[in-house]
Amino acid sequence: MKTSLLIGSNGYLGRHLSVFLDHNNFKNQNFDIHPAGFEGLNNYRQFDITDKISFQNLDANVDFIFLFAGLTGTADGFDKYQDFVKVNEIGLLNLFDWMRSSGCKARIIFPSTRLVYKGRKNYALKEDDAKETKTIYALNKLAAENLLWMYQNAFGVNYTVFRICVPYGNLFGNTYSYGTIGFFLDKATKNQDIVLFGDGSIRRSFTHVADICNTIYYAILHEDSENQIYNIGGENLSLLAAATLVADKFGVGINFMPWPEMALKLESDDTVFDDSKLRSLINPSRKFDLQNWLASF
Ligand SMILES: NC(=O)c1ccc[n+]([C@@H]2O[C@H](COP(=O)([O-])OP(=O)(O)OC[C@H]3O[C@@H](n4cnc5c(N)ncnc54)[C@H](O)[C@@H]3O)[C@@H](O)[C@H]2O)c1
Repeated sequence: MKTSLLIGSNGYLGRHLSVFLDHNNFKNQNFDIHPAGFEGLNNYRQFDITDKISFQNLDANVDFIFLFAGLTGTADGFDKYQDFVKVNEIGLLNLFDWMRSSGCKARIIFPSTRLVYKGRKNYALKEDDAKETKTIYALNKLAAENLLWMYQNAFGVNYTVFRICVPYGNLFGNTYSYGTIGFFLDKATKNQDIVLFGDGSIRRSFTHVADICNTIYYAILHEDSENQIYNIGGENLSLLAAATLVADKFGVGINFMPWPEMALKLESDDTVFDDSKLRSLINPSRKFDLQNWLASF
């Protein structure tokens, strides 16, 4: 049985991962800044990653630490830069500091994002392709990836980074990712037309949250995944194709709007993932695509 700490267990990805780990023979402990864990969450403790006192009495004798706490955003990062740096970068540094002082040898599992890449039309991005950070959040994530490498080099802290493109779906409750599909669903479930900026031709890799959990689980059990960065692949669709699937399901239309000036500056071109590196490790099979998930909605 593997043991783990999961920080950020109340979030969209964290809560799915927590339930997944419980069902897959992990002995996992959950942490988040909220006073209580989400409904039904076992083994929970309130924890603030920005506060070093929170780390006292953490169990250092675990195999993995899933660091899924974080602040996410685009334009709002420019106003809340102190919070973003504090949670997304200082939080990780606090974790390293505690690991050094406690002798914790766990491997950190860290979710990064498509937003570290320079988007490219009609091209599938590989892990080493060019980076471009247009937001504070994207810069935080790239900084965190570099910090993981730095602390592995200097102190032997092990890690695996998974870059996630556009997650969607849920297995319980009614919390969806705040990303693209969540935005479409928010409109469509209220019987409103979906708003699409531009012509919708930009493409992304869409991955169901269950497939994300499954991929992370099998990859980290493989020892070759230590100190590696992986793209998690998905279904490659244009935003228009994804919006059309959601709109057809709920019988609403699509309202094309010009890009707001700032949103256009911050948006990347196509970010479609090449996941051949991960495939050479575990050959992940996807159980969901957007259409079959929507059919069961
Ligand atoms: N959802 C996506 O589209 C996506 C894509 C790529 C990467 N990621 C990354 O994966 C991680 C989880 O994403 P998510 O969608 O579950 O986000 P989320 O916002 O749903 O969850 C983040 C969790 O972190 C917790 N948190 C915030 N500040 C904290 C603090 N100081 N101490 C302890 N906990 C704190 C929040 O309470 C929340 O439960 C984030 O780092 C995010 O950047 C998400």
